[in-house]
Amino acid sequence: MITTNYLIIGSGVAGLTFAIKIADRFPDKKVTIVTKSNADESNTKYAQGGIAIVTDETEDSYQKHIDDTLICGDGLCDVEVVKIVVTEGPKRLKELIAWGAKFDKTAKGFFDLGKEGGHSQNRVVHHKDQTGQEIERTILDQVHQKENITVLDHHFALDLITEDNQCLGAFVLNQRTNEIITFQSHFTLLATGGIGHLYGHTTNPIIATGDGIAMAFRANATIKDMEFIQFHPTALYDTSTGSKFLISEAVRGFGAYLRTKNGNRFMLDYDKRGELASRDIVSQSIDLELKKSGDECVYLDCTHLDLKAFIKHFPMIYERCKSIGVDITKDWIPVVPAQHYLCGGIVVDKNGKTAIDNLFACGECSRTGLHGANRLASNSLLEALVYSDKIYNYLVDTTLKKKELNPILSNWIFVEKPKITHDYIAKIKALLQLLMRQNAGIIRYDNDLSKAKEKLMQWQDELKTITENNEISSELYELYNMITIGNLIAQQSMIRIENKGSFKKNN
Ligand code: FAD
Ligand code: SIN
Repeated sequence: MITTNYLIIGSGVAGLTFAIKIADRFPDKKVTIVTKSNADESNTKYAQGGIAIVTDETEDSYQKHIDDTLICGDGLCDVEVVKIVVTEGPKRLKELIAWGAKFDKTAKGFFDLGKEGGHSQNRVVHHKDQTGQEIERTILDQVHQKENITVLDHHFALDLITEDNQCLGAFVLNQRTNEIITFQSHFTLLATGGIGHLYGHTTNPIIATGDGIAMAFRANATIKDMEFIQFHPTALYDTSTGSKFLISEAVRGFGAYLRTKNGNRFMLDYDKRGELASRDIVSQSIDLELKKSGDECVYLDCTHLDLKAFIKHFPMIYERCKSIGVDITKDWIPVVPAQHYLCGGIVVDKNGKTAIDNLFACGECSRTGLHGANRLASNSLLEALVYSDKIYNYLVDTTLKKKELNPILSNWIFVEKPKITHDYIAKIKALLQLLMRQNAGIIRYDNDLSKAKEKLMQWQDELKTITENNEISSELYELYNMITIGNLIAQQSMIRIENKGSFKKNN
């Protein structure tokens, strides 16, 4: 058994920024980060557009950012939370910069602010088109400098340990040795990110399998708003399943047009903001256009844009397009919507506390109330930064009052068990992804959802038995978790009657 004061599950922006602060504040306390892949692998690393923050109050204002967030959330945001997150943005940006993160500036030394869908102003602070990589690099560097933080990569959290509605720690699989380790902790933070691989076609890397939400659900935490799945309008089109390369919304903010194969600039038919309508509207419009035409993709036209300025802001996107033979000066970029973000998740209060004592959740796996029915572009990194700070502040006080650790009474039972084959897991996973795309995609139908639910319930029962009777592997647990999440999405989508934001049901 390993004992630690703070157990952090996940090493993206949410987990790492909390770790840095708490480790600094309490140099005599142990901070342990477990993460299931390489330490830098996370949705965070792939963030492109940037962080939405009001940095210049001459044109912009907190109120405008608040209003944009509320409009985008389609009436379902928690207004208090929106105000808190928006107004704390500048302080959190200063911290990132103090840790060493670099953001693009204009010749006059101001932040070079990008624009994205749903924003009434340019307010997206960025590092070229690789903002996430810059943030992840910076905070991981900071973490590695702290003597009281231990980072255990390739450690997969299986389940939380709870007794009497208190979280006592977690069972974690060392993926290198296959040993299951019991972690006993004063406080546990779930920072496990999104769910993209449930859909197969996603902008998320393969770590995004909803593990933290599934774990929290099994431990009886409250899970809400799972029907609000955000599909990004412009993932680079290819026919394979798996992670898709993103063409940042900031490219449309830079002036790119969306066109059908015949050249029709269709977005103006759907919304007066055209290509810069919020993401839910753009994705739903593309979906309709593709259903009408039977085409496989639509196109992003950048041919009229200033190439030099484009390459300066979007060097990675430019190179990626070039590498597949798309010359953006004369070719349109083929794009399709793909799963991108989950607006719902583990319900937390304004201190990031879940319904279980000593258990906190932060970042994409949490549901704070900021996003409502649809997240405003570049508000996710912001939310994680603000809430990791909230949890830190709350735990500064609570840590000082914390008593002895409760003993862990439950234990993982170790018995020799057969191993389930990779082929079986891969087969069910492919079927699950197809089921989610077909039955719980951009536009849903109760009939499809109900069929999906039936299948998911059947798989869930099967997988429960399989996980109990076979050797545990992260691959098997990820599948079990994804089926659990699929079930939550299907059930909560069936319950919702009114179409809102990223949720659209036709019956
Ligand atoms: P993540 O960064 O995903 O980190 C989750 C961590 O948990 C990972 O380290 C993972 O390995 C670990 N983990 C998961 N399960 C387990 C387990 N069972 N055991 C142990 N470890 C586990 N948002 C913006 O605001 N602006 C943007 O410009 C932007 N661009 C984006 C572009 C792309 C391509 C993508 C995919 C997302 C983008 N987003 C953007 C969304 C944003 O990046 C994410 O929502 C945010 O980074 C999530 O941070 P996180 O710390 O919550 O999770
Ligand atoms: C993008 O760059 O388009 C992604 C921004 C986001 O997800 O907030």
